Amino acid sequence: MFNPQTQTFSSISVAEFFYRNRQMAGFGNSAQSVYSAVRELVENSLDACDEAGVHPVVRVDITTVDGGTLEISVTDNGTGIHPDHIAEAFGRVLYGSKYGMRQRRGTFGLGVTMAVLYAQITTDTPVEIVTQYRSGEGKRVRLFMDIAANRPVVVDETPIDLGNPGTTVRIRLKGSLRRSRERIVEYLRLTSVTSPHAHLTLFIDGKRVLSVGPWSKTLPALPRATKPHPRAADVELLRRLVSEYRGTRTRDFLSRAFQQMGTRTAARVVRFAGIDSKKRVGELTREEILSLSNALQKLDGIARPDASCLSPVGKEAFSTAVTRLYSPRFTAYSLRGPSEWSGNPFMIEGVLALVEGSSSDFPVLLRFANRVPLLYDASEDVLMKVLRQINWSRYSITTSGTPILFVHVCSSRIPYRAAGKQSIASIPEIEREVLSLYRELGRKAQRFARGCVRSVRDRRRMREFERLFRMVAHFGARLAGCKEPPVRDLVVQLFEVDAGE
Ligand SMILES: Nc1ncnc2c1ncn2[C@@H]1O[C@H](COP(=O)(O)OP(=O)(O)O)[C@@H](O)[C@H]1O
Ligand SMILES: [Mg+2]
Repeated sequence: MFNPQTQTFSSISVAEFFYRNRQMAGFGNSAQSVYSAVRELVENSLDACDEAGVHPVVRVDITTVDGGTLEISVTDNGTGIHPDHIAEAFGRVLYGSKYGMRQRRGTFGLGVTMAVLYAQITTDTPVEIVTQYRSGEGKRVRLFMDIAANRPVVVDETPIDLGNPGTTVRIRLKGSLRRSRERIVEYLRLTSVTSPHAHLTLFIDGKRVLSVGPWSKTLPALPRATKPHPRAADVELLRRLVSEYRGTRTRDFLSRAFQQMGTRTAARVVRFAGIDSKKRVGELTREEILSLSNALQKLDGIARPDASCLSPVGKEAFSTAVTRLYSPRFTAYSLRGPSEWSGNPFMIEGVLALVEGSSSDFPVLLRFANRVPLLYDASEDVLMKVLRQINWSRYSITTSGTPILFVHVCSSRIPYRAAGKQSIASIPEIEREVLSLYRELGRKAQRFARGCVRSVRDRRRMREFERLFRMVAHFGARLAGCKEPPVRDLVVQLFEVDAGE
């Protein structure tokens, strides 16, 4: 029988939570964990290089230590890590430098710590970080995590000087390369599609297995952090901003704390919420904060979110990367947006490539979010869901090759379905834009496919005409007793197409 005296309560740290639920972050089994560890380390390296404004040079080394243990190390030429933050960044779950409102690969301050946690629970070895921040600020640190307390435990640290900024992170974990190798290679190849400015290499047991990029000389413009959009102002966000701007009058607060909020719009919001515009925000009651939040989210006529916090790959770089990696017969590029979901700006860009061979009308879908390829959980992704809604046979593109669709969603906040960041949730605004993107790309490919069918038909008819013309010329010349005239030009003129085609 239930005895109220024995009911016990306790609380656990976030690290403990992710230790118990590591599959949520992509560390469920050993094959996926090797892949996820590489992915998290590479993601951080690329973010750090973009932050530093350099062409990323990222080297991944995977070495077999013994049958079931691997050592993974990733080296970059990025910003390096400030010595004061190394321990927390690697030894504390949900600690990071990327919580601002702008597009970045990392989001939660979770990725590398999960790799460290997994390494620790499978091999009981510390993570090693060798990093150079500014000159004179280089360090080599080895640390464990105290999972129950969610804090780092430093084993040793020594000052070093690498000369240039950059970082190497090294972990040892239990895992199988046999089952993850292909995924890792695919991941790095695809990474170079949406990070075409990067040079990526993979070494396995000292042998170079892959070297891709850079495909583009231009560095992507660094996205700018923006203020929150009024549509994102739920009560919690509003309360935090209010405590930051306590002494400011409500109307001025709105135009200072939010983007797209001029003084006139701010006055409208305040009126709509029924609040005295001169009242200081620190004095607003709970009810007033709630009605202000409602007004901000509901009032019409507020401009769309500022998209300067986003960084799409762009037509030139995206198409070039696809062309260099897949040698397609044709590529089409389209970009949709900027649009918004709950105050978060997003853009969706895609390349539809037709590669040699023909299988089905239904395109192979390759998904990317904030420049990161998504390789797992495709069936649950909004990009796949919309792909299934389209009748691809309508575009008749298979005659010209196998269609591969590369789709990149970028947003200051990607609505991932889980902490492992493998698939994107179905948000109506995103669905709408994805549908339009697919249709645009389908139509572009259809125009090309039609052209191909026409030119195949024309070439066949040209050959037939040329054969007949040659016969006429041959017998005509014999009858007239003169030299046989060339007929090729006549045929070309007749068809008014490029005979070399
Ligand atoms: N290679 C690196 N170069 C520079 N900073 C790094 C690197 N790896 C990790 N960091 C720092 O560690 C923090 C935590 O990383 P992580 O747990 O992967 O979270 P996230 O990438 O989501 O912020 C990052 O926010 C970043 O500041
Ligand atoms: Mg990360």
